[in-house]
Amino acid sequence: MPQNLIENTIAFVKEKLEGAEAGHDWFHIERVWKLSKKIAATETCNVAVVELSALLHDIADPKFHEGDETLALKISNEFLQNQNVPKEIIVQVLFVIKNISFKNRGEVPKVLPIELQIVQDADRLDAIGAIGIARTFNFGGFKNNLMYHPDLPPKLNQTKEEYKKSTGTTINHFYEKLLLLKDLMNTKTGKNLAENRHQLMLDFLAQFYKEWNVE
Ligand code: ADP
Ligand code: NI
Repeated sequence: MPQNLIENTIAFVKEKLEGAEAGHDWFHIERVWKLSKKIAATETCNVAVVELSALLHDIADPKFHEGDETLALKISNEFLQNQNVPKEIIVQVLFVIKNISFKNRGEVPKVLPIELQIVQDADRLDAIGAIGIARTFNFGGFKNNLMYHPDLPPKLNQTKEEYKKSTGTTINHFYEKLLLLKDLMNTKTGKNLAENRHQLMLDFLAQFYKEWNVE
């Protein structure tokens, strides 16, 4: 593998994500990268593929690029080729980036490579718990969505198109995505790390309704 590849990738990602929404910025990438390394240490896998995929997975999130689902693949491919990364590694990294997303979960193969399982777990762990709650309210604010509305129930089983267009409340996002993630974790380490984070969200919601209703 080329020397300084990880350092170069970090510098590239930091520059690309300058000014990004706070839930999808460099610090999200850094947390996902660290969580990925932590999970990778408990699995048999190609660590270079895991690290590169974690660092590049949100380089051009379609929801901030007019829905373009190919841009991240193009940018990553070009960057990795310029870094002289071997073709077989590039193919694996691009596969992870293409298939990691929650909203695409209906479209991916049933058996996932371990590297994808790891980075997907890491990305999902950062979507739940205290950080997950903070990110979700930040994104809702960024979209000018309501925090909560007592007469707007969550929409379960939305199609990918409905999910992407959703202008539902931020509290509904907990039921439409965040609370589902615990049971979607791929790895044993991911499952373990999800437990506390999941419980914290349940406690948060219970307290939120208490305060909302001024009990
Ligand atoms: P993925 O990138 O895995 O497809 P999403 O695009 O659904 O996942 O969301 C990534 C993160 O952005 C979520 O975990 C959440 O914090 C935030 N987010 C996405 N959609 C919403 C929404 N409708 N309301 C609030 N937060 C959202
Ligand atoms: Ni992400």
